[in-house]
Amino acid sequence: MSDGEFNVYEQVGGDSVFRQLVDDFYARIEADPVLRPMFPDDLEAGKEWQFLFLTQFFGGPPRYNDERGHPRLRMRHSPFPIDQTARDHWLAHMLAAMDAVGITEPSRSLMKDYFARASTAMMNAEPNAGNLMYWNLPREDRS
Ligand code: HEM
Repeated sequence: MSDGEFNVYEQVGGDSVFRQLVDDFYARIEADPVLRPMFPDDLEAGKEWQFLFLTQFFGGPPRYNDERGHPRLRMRHSPFPIDQTARDHWLAHMLAAMDAVGITEPSRSLMKDYFARASTAMMNAEPNAGNLMYWNLPREDRS
């Protein structure tokens, strides 16, 4: 895989470092009262997909596609109401996990930029979307 191109996966230390990153990130998700209810009771499967996706995305082996198919991440996130608050929590946990694991430059900036942009792209809900349901509208605003 070392063809002279810069490779984040290799620079940070490959599978073992991404494994630590995902473990640390998920420990933070598990302790987050805003995000925990959005995730299933059993976090193990999602954790493994996250590991396979991130290693693939950052230049490692294409195991996510082999096992799961095309990522289509926005579509896979559509069941979860991701608003600005959820996105901010998610991103804060990922950045904290990167620091805890000790991911260094230049990969650190590349990964941070990606996580900031991609987490924004995953937003699919207005703040307090539940309040925008028809039956919560004042009667005069219903049509
Ligand atoms: C950089 C942005 C993000 C990336 C790369 C990402 C990546 C992933 C991946 C790879 C999966 C597993 C998909 C599969 O089933 O194959 C997943 C699941 C999930 N993500 Fe994200 N995600 C991002 C942002 C977010 C945000 C902002 C939220 C909101 C809190 C979120 C919540 C979830 C939830 C609830 C699941 C389902 C977990 C499960 O079924 O166990 N994600 N994400």
